[in-house]
Amino acid sequence: MEELRLKKLQEHIKKESAWFAFITSKENVFYLTGLLANPHERLIALFVLENDYYLVIPKMEQEVVRDAGYSDELVTYSDHENVWDLIKSRLEKSTHASSKVLIEQRTVSYERVLELDKLSDSLEFIDCEPVMMSQRLIKTEVELETLQRAAAFADVGVEFGINALKTGVTELEVIAEIEYQLKKQGIREMSFQTTVLFGDHAASPHGKPGDRALQEGEFVLFDLGVVLDGYCSDITRTVAYGEVNDQAKAIYEVVLDAQNAALHAAKPGIIIGDLDLTARTVISEAGFGDYFPHRLGHGLGIDVHEAPSMSQENKDTLQLGMTFTIEPGIYVPNVAGVRIEDDVVVTEDGGVPLTIFPKTLLTIPPTS
Ligand code: GLY
Ligand code: MN
Ligand code: MN
Repeated sequence: MEELRLKKLQEHIKKESAWFAFITSKENVFYLTGLLANPHERLIALFVLENDYYLVIPKMEQEVVRDAGYSDELVTYSDHENVWDLIKSRLEKSTHASSKVLIEQRTVSYERVLELDKLSDSLEFIDCEPVMMSQRLIKTEVELETLQRAAAFADVGVEFGINALKTGVTELEVIAEIEYQLKKQGIREMSFQTTVLFGDHAASPHGKPGDRALQEGEFVLFDLGVVLDGYCSDITRTVAYGEVNDQAKAIYEVVLDAQNAALHAAKPGIIIGDLDLTARTVISEAGFGDYFPHRLGHGLGIDVHEAPSMSQENKDTLQLGMTFTIEPGIYVPNVAGVRIEDDVVVTEDGGVPLTIFPKTLLTIPPTS
């Protein structure tokens, strides 16, 4: 699989008449090699040339990389060596007639671009992020199966969170319980910082969990996801702890209607921006348009946020095999915040949710 992906990048290198691509984001290194690396500040870089490629890694990672089954060329360096000297001499082994170097413009550091710039006179840097992202946009069956397994753990994470609710428990205590239980299930990494927010705290889309204690009659918002075999999940559910008031229930129903409307409209060929507008119209017509301040969602895969952006500005069309979130919300300051988020794959039959935790409003009986 990775060979085919590398081949596509090499075709692009040929088309651009570029010297090489310098790939350092852990997401694209994983996509192109199958290796999940966490280099901290040390350089891990995949150099891809038209007819060649090699992975530059710290010597201390060599054994792990080989144990993971990677059998292609490695250029290794120790902490006392200058990796850029090694890179220069390795590059000199192949001829080059181009001054174009492909980089990941969004993530490569300026420091590394300066080092690349010293490799030859008058280099020209070109962004290869769009070509990488367009490869990653459509998921394979194997990727979809992994995303489905990651989504199942997100569903379970919400369940762990609900089981941890009791009067007086704090948001951070619930988060600790969710992550503890998931770790016991073998999950090493969350796909972003787990969020649990109570009542009016959830009225900010990116509220910060803290020592707020849970009270009867308020909403609890869970937003969490895991990384499984390199792929992410991302779910949001909002539940009532005890009976919430009629205004809160009405807000919940509007968000659920908006979420379902977008889900049912998620067919191959639809303009992505129109999907955002489908949900936004439901919320606006209910009078809450000013309280839905973010896009409908985002692409999901190796990155928890990747292409396509599910924003009203996006004029691209949904295609079979794309995966993304649908996550409308209503946030009324000092009153309540409700968001409902599913991970979705586009199939011939329309959008199919990967996350399946129930969405009808759950009322959790209070306990102490
Ligand atoms: N957890 C952040 C998001 O839903 O995009
Ligand atoms: Mn989320
Ligand atoms: Mn999300």
